[in-house]
Amino acid sequence: MSENSAIGVFDSGLGGLTAVKELTQFLPHENIVYFGDTGRVPYGNRSRETITRYALQDVRFLKSKDIKILIAACGTVSSVAGDLGKEFHIPYTGVLKPTAISASQTTRNGRIGVIGTTATVNSSSYKKAIQNINPSLQVFQQDCPLFVPLVENGFIDRNDIVVRTVVERYLAPLIENQVDTLILGCTHYPILKDVIADVMGENVTLIDSGRETARYALHLIEKYNLANPQKENGSCEYYVSDNLDNFSKIAGIFLGKSVNQDVHQIKIEHY
Ligand code: DGL
Repeated sequence: MSENSAIGVFDSGLGGLTAVKELTQFLPHENIVYFGDTGRVPYGNRSRETITRYALQDVRFLKSKDIKILIAACGTVSSVAGDLGKEFHIPYTGVLKPTAISASQTTRNGRIGVIGTTATVNSSSYKKAIQNINPSLQVFQQDCPLFVPLVENGFIDRNDIVVRTVVERYLAPLIENQVDTLILGCTHYPILKDVIADVMGENVTLIDSGRETARYALHLIEKYNLANPQKENGSCEYYVSDNLDNFSKIAGIFLGKSVNQDVHQIKIEHY
């Protein structure tokens, strides 16, 4: 492992690409290796044991690529799989800490909403992370299990009646609780940012877990003195565990550009 090694990023599916998109802005000279467990997504309705077993396989695969930093760009893994950095002896961040710091600095009325998968909300991980920073902050959580399938199937239009109805239904209790800051606690959710912003109204600030995590990666690179010295833009290799048929189309939604090269399918159960 050296400063020329890549940053390893993984998610249960393609949601972590929202973090990759931001990483290419914050750290344009870094190479990235991305793994999306498209064959086993979603993780968010599975047990702690299963999610942890999957996460360990995902990390073992990325470690085989000689990475220098590990990012779990997945709210669910960050919430339930423990400290993967300690376990694998590598500088690490999940999405919790960077996002909790940002939300606690943003709120004005001390009322923060969190939306995430069912596993994330059941773990109360964001709530604990926020109240660790400031115990007086109030945190209101809501799981949104239909958001990941909507996004992975391309249902993302703010004017689509199905999308809007689902979003309104999930967010109603948070509006009632008068949150002024809302954490998009799953890395798939920034894709629904426009419709979530419409429904929450202009007085609520949205915190994008992918963006905050990418920003935190910049801090890790500086802290461990691991900046890639290359002058040209970094490369990005993509690995998934299911067939590649829909990858380009769906990845394009997350990255805002099409991806046709450096995409590979692997057998994650071998790791
Ligand atoms: N992007 C993942 C997360 O942040 C999606 C979870 C899932 O697979 O259910 O939680």
